[in-house]
Amino acid sequence: MARIASIDNVFVRVNEKQYGPFSPRELRAMIDKGKFSENDLIWSEDQDQWITAADFNALRYIFPSEEAAAKRPKRVIAVGGGKGGVGKTVLTSSIGVGLASLGKDVVMVDADLGGANLHTVMGILEPEHTFFDFYTLAVEDIKDIVLSTPVERLKLISGACGTLGLANPKYQQKLKFIRQLREIDADFILLDLGAGSSFNVIDFFLTADEGIVVTNPEPMAIQECFNFIKICLLRRLQLAFRGNERVMEILESDELNRPGRIHIPMSEVLKKVQEIDQSAAGMMEEVLATNRPKLILNMVMEKDDIKEGIAIQTAAAELLSIDVEFLGYITYDQGVRNAVRELRPFLLQNPQSPASQDLAKLISVKILGQSKISGFFEKRKLRKQLMEQRAEYPEINLQQQAPICSIKCFYWGDCDYQNGGHPCAVRHLEPIFKQ
Ligand SMILES: Nc1ncnc2c1ncn2[C@@H]1O[C@H](COP(=O)(O)OP(=O)(O)OP(=O)(O)O)[C@@H](O)[C@H]1O
Ligand SMILES: [Mg+2]
Repeated sequence: MARIASIDNVFVRVNEKQYGPFSPRELRAMIDKGKFSENDLIWSEDQDQWITAADFNALRYIFPSEEAAAKRPKRVIAVGGGKGGVGKTVLTSSIGVGLASLGKDVVMVDADLGGANLHTVMGILEPEHTFFDFYTLAVEDIKDIVLSTPVERLKLISGACGTLGLANPKYQQKLKFIRQLREIDADFILLDLGAGSSFNVIDFFLTADEGIVVTNPEPMAIQECFNFIKICLLRRLQLAFRGNERVMEILESDELNRPGRIHIPMSEVLKKVQEIDQSAAGMMEEVLATNRPKLILNMVMEKDDIKEGIAIQTAAAELLSIDVEFLGYITYDQGVRNAVRELRPFLLQNPQSPASQDLAKLISVKILGQSKISGFFEKRKLRKQLMEQRAEYPEINLQQQAPICSIKCFYWGDCDYQNGGHPCAVRHLEPIFKQ
C-alpha cells in the first residue's frame, strides 16, 4: 500500500474503503460535506498503521474544535488571475474596506511576492513590518506583522518587495504561512496574489477556502484567466494523486499540459482514469465538484463585455468539467484610477461611483450572501459607513514620504503610473531606494 508522503498528502479510510491521497484542503471540504469525520481513519506513516483522525495530531487543526472555531477566520479568500494589471489589488483593497465597513474583521494579505503594492493602495508608504520579517524569523509570530490601516477593523499584512529568496518560498513554507494566517482572529482573510500562473500564485490560490479570479474583458486577459483556472485544476489534481503513479501518468501527459489549446477535455481524462482505477476516478469527480473558482469581470465598458464572463463559465464547464461562479462585473471607471493616484481604495474615495456601486452589490449579495432586499439595505448601510470612514481617512502627502511614488524616485515626472498607467516601472526596486 502506498504511504503518506507527508502530512500534506494523506490516505484516509471511510467505511472500510481507502481513498486519497488528499491535501488538508480537500479533507476539510470532505469534513464540511459530512464525508469524513474525526472518527474515520488516517494512515500514519510514523506509526505504520491506521489511526483515528481525532488522534492524528498533525491534522488536528482541520477539524473545527470549539476553541479553533472561535479563533479561526471564517473565510480565507484568495484573489488571483493570470494577467497583470486587471485590478486584483484595487479590488482586494476595496473588498476589504467594504467588508470592514459592514462590521467584519478583515485582514488583507499582500501575497504578491514579486511586486507587493497593496500597502501603497492603502496609503501606507513605508510599512513597519512585512512578510519578509516573518520569513527571516525577525518576527516569529505572524500576528506581530499585522498592520493597522486607516480603516477601522481592516488590517494588513504587507508584502515584501524585491527580496529574491522570498519570491520562491517552498510549498511547505506557504502552507505554514497559511496555517498561521488561519490562527489570526478575523472574519475574513483576503489574499492579494501576483500576476501569472507560477506555483507560488497557484499554491496560495489553492490553499485558500475560496478563490476569486479577476479578469478584464480583453481577449488576452480572458485567455490568461482561463489558463489560470486550468492550471489551478491540474495542480490540485496532481497534488491529490501524487502517490498514484498510473493516474499521475495521465495527469502529466503532454496532451493535457501543453500550453495553448486544450487537446483533451477533462471528461476524457476522467474516462481514462475510470478505465484504470475506479476509486481514483471517484476521487477525481470529487475534486472536480469541489473546485469552484469564482470570477469577477473588471473594467467592463459596455454591456456586451459581460458575455466574456459567461464565456469563461461555459468553457470551464465544457472543457474542464468544473463550475465557475460568476460573481459579477465592475464597470470601467475613471474614479478607480483617480483613487489609485490619491492612494485610497476606490470604494472609500467615492462610494457613489459606478465601480463602487457594482462592488458594493457584489460584496453584500455575493460575498456576504444577502438576499436582494437585505442586500439593498446592506448597501445603504455600507454607503453611510463609507462616508463616515472617508471623512476620517488621512491625507497622504506623497512628496514627503517613501522613495517610490515620491519626488525622491528617479522616475518621478516620467512616470505613467501616476497618470493612470500600469504597472509602476520601478515598483520592484523599492528596497534599493531605502535609506
Ligand atoms: N474598474 C476599473 N476602472 C478603471 N480602472 C481600473 C479598474 N480596476 C483597476 N483599474 C486600474 O488598473 C490598474 C491596475 O490595477 P491593479 O494594480 O489592482 O492590478 P493587478 O491585477 O493587481 O496588477 P498586478 O498583477 O500587477 O498586481 C489600477 O492602477 C487602476 O488604475
Ligand atoms: Mg496586484
